[in-house]
Amino acid sequence: MAADIAPVNLPQTRPDSDSAEAIVVFKDVSITFDIKPVLQNISFIVQRGETRIILGPAGGGKSVLMKLANGLIRPDTGTIRIFGEDITKMQETDLFKLRERIGMVFQESALFDSLSVEDNVAYRLHEEHVPEEEAHNRVIEALRFVELEQTIAKFPSELSGGMRRRVSIARAIIAKPDLILYDSPTGGLDPITSTTIVELVIKQRDVTHTTSLVITHRLQDAFLMARNRFNEQTGKIEPIPNGGIDDSTKFLVLNEGRVVFDGTTHELVHTSDPWLKEYLS
Ligand SMILES: Nc1ncnc2c1ncn2[C@@H]1O[C@H](COP(=O)(O)OP(=O)(O)O)[C@@H](O)[C@H]1O
Ligand SMILES: [Mg+2]
Repeated sequence: MAADIAPVNLPQTRPDSDSAEAIVVFKDVSITFDIKPVLQNISFIVQRGETRIILGPAGGGKSVLMKLANGLIRPDTGTIRIFGEDITKMQETDLFKLRERIGMVFQESALFDSLSVEDNVAYRLHEEHVPEEEAHNRVIEALRFVELEQTIAKFPSELSGGMRRRVSIARAIIAKPDLILYDSPTGGLDPITSTTIVELVIKQRDVTHTTSLVITHRLQDAFLMARNRFNEQTGKIEPIPNGGIDDSTKFLVLNEGRVVFDGTTHELVHTSDPWLKEYLS
């Protein structure tokens, strides 16, 4: 396929001139399960390098939106462009290629219980037939990023929930994806462990600037992301000085299948919408 051999920095055809740097574009996307409308006329754009936090009450359609973005399910109506390509009518083989550029972190961690941490993290590299030594070095690099090098020979059953989540982050980032989808990365974790996971998401954001969608129903996670940054000198997460907020982090709030907010942290905290004010309080 032409896309395989084209140099990566070659200008590509951009079907949407108004969204030249858009990585994710949803336009009027709707989906109904059985008779229940789960997402209704969802439109939003995520630009390159942006971290988009998707907030909203349980059952609001956040996970469905994530599966649509990955081409795991298809909408009834509307279009979804990922990396400039309409994926709504894409063949499975092309979706497979698309997913090679996307890292996924599921709420349940979704590790293979029968595989070691090393083989879980290397999974995609093995599929791509990356030579063993290179794969091993990249696994170590990815595990170092999530501070879990010492678990390389362990099995998922030997790890805590938070460690499993960190392994799944290592697995998602190992192939240096152009887009990371985190579905409730702190779901089911205690508050302290949740904070360590959010800090990893911040570190990933600030070190690589990878475009990301981050689903959470936890407001504290969302604001932790907006108000903190990774300090390369100290290797620690710290508050952005003077009450600042991260410019690359934006919000999408979903409720009952509709977009109720799309904008910056500043706009969100200054909203006059009664439902949002109540939700944020
Ligand atoms: N495969 C499916 N079949 C039927 N209903 C589904 C399916 N997936 C999700 N739903 C329904 O869609 C709604 C939104 O689900 P979901 O996206 O998982 O919510 P959230 O992640 O925001 O908590 C829920 O009512 C859920 O029951
Ligand atoms: Mg969900």
